[in-house]
Amino acid sequence: MSLLSNPLRDPKDRRLPRVAGPCSLILFGVTGDLARKKLIPAVYDLANRGLLPPGFALVGFARHDFGHQEFKALIKKAAKDGARTPWRDTVWKQLVAGIRFVPGEFDDDAAWQRLGDTMRELDEQQGTNGNHAFYLSIPPGLFPVVVSQLEKHGLAQSDNGWRRVVIEKPFGHDLASARELNKIVGGVFPPESVFRIDHYLGKETVQNILAFRFANGMFEPLWNSNYVDHVQITMAEDIGIGTRAGYYDGIGAARDVIQNHLLQLMALIAMEEPVSFKASSLRIEKQKILANARPAPRLDFHTAHAQYVAGWAGGEKVRGYLQEEGIPQSSTTESYAAVRIDIATRRWAGVPFYLRTGKRLGRRVTEVAVVFKRAPHQPFAKHDVVELGENALVMRIQPDEGVTLRFGAKVPGTTMEIRDVLMDFAYGGAFVESSPEAYERLILDVLLGDPPLFPQHEEVELAWEILDPVIDHWARQTSIDTYTSGTWGPASADEMIARDGRSWRRP
Ligand code: BG6
Repeated sequence: MSLLSNPLRDPKDRRLPRVAGPCSLILFGVTGDLARKKLIPAVYDLANRGLLPPGFALVGFARHDFGHQEFKALIKKAAKDGARTPWRDTVWKQLVAGIRFVPGEFDDDAAWQRLGDTMRELDEQQGTNGNHAFYLSIPPGLFPVVVSQLEKHGLAQSDNGWRRVVIEKPFGHDLASARELNKIVGGVFPPESVFRIDHYLGKETVQNILAFRFANGMFEPLWNSNYVDHVQITMAEDIGIGTRAGYYDGIGAARDVIQNHLLQLMALIAMEEPVSFKASSLRIEKQKILANARPAPRLDFHTAHAQYVAGWAGGEKVRGYLQEEGIPQSSTTESYAAVRIDIATRRWAGVPFYLRTGKRLGRRVTEVAVVFKRAPHQPFAKHDVVELGENALVMRIQPDEGVTLRFGAKVPGTTMEIRDVLMDFAYGGAFVESSPEAYERLILDVLLGDPPLFPQHEEVELAWEILDPVIDHWARQTSIDTYTSGTWGPASADEMIARDGRSWRRP
């Protein structure tokens, strides 16, 4: 399906919703945070919207010893707590008939045989027809064992149906490990059966970047180094690391978010027009950007990283990173990262892309701001334009999804005073349809075998090539900067951008 069609409709007939065919989703890591908060609710919402087939099956595989009833209760609670659509007992009744649990360790052959038996039983009883998607919502260190067990037990291929594997980020922790991982997965599953999830690509507002850029004529002439001064991509969170110390402390903000979400956003903003919105065409254009993108050469000048210390969030006192449960006192993992990326292409040479992300910042917001150069000449007295900034186009990815244009306007009165004003498009005001949650869209696409929203291994490796030197540079430092929770990050990040004579937006 093309990326710009209505995600929930059949592209051949706009009246028909896109409904997955007979299949199952087999969840590894079913008791984890992601499965409970996002994946299970998304499955319920898809079922509730009538987008799953009648015999759809959801299988959990974990080392817990749940009884069947206990497992069903766990799924029901997660679905009820996280669903975005209203609860309907009829939908649950239909869903519950296909729920199974397979207990076992990943290295226990008997457990994999039990999984194989369950899959065969579902094919017969639920009519899943040999179509099974394996969702690896587990630490990447466990991918090799799961993938090789799937192969060893003959579950990775089927003569009568499809098999797909879904991998959650992080895809490796550097270029070498990503290559290794891609080799392992690619040795078992063909490329068209591997679905790498970067959930930002499932967000409507991220897909709207393509609509905005390529459906309209008036922005394209400005979209280059003649008119754009710089681009700021911000993903700020007000939450801390919560209960994810085990995952987060070995990773940090740059690997967690910049390597995937923010570099993908940058590629969509910077890429040339694709020949179509098919996966293969999009990939070609994104890869060209990633292959030409590099961190600014002075890593000490143009990167910043830091850890939050105690402060305030939402009117409450919150603890610092080192006081979070499970974080070692000696940790130098960054919860804030900022980096300047330069893209060596004719369109973008000389236009810095500043990427930043952090936990425990002032508020939750993700946005892309394209900041334009000032007019070459301004026929106004200096004191009339003190409140005039640069023109900017801001795409708000979340929350308050929309697009804002900032420009100067005359302040009413007898003088020619100019001040910045905002022209605003808000999704909520313009459309009545609510957008599907990113995971709903992505799970449906996996079940339909629809690939445009999933990065391929080349993109993942190119993104590591960009980030590896930054992470190596930080790894050589023995201490880490700090910032107070509830603020907009460390002073070093302000200094970094000030070296270029610019400042961060306060979103
Ligand atoms: C995930 C990161 O990919 O994205 C998390 O691992 C982060 O650390 C999350 O909190 C944010 O997602 P969203 O959709 O709330 O912006």
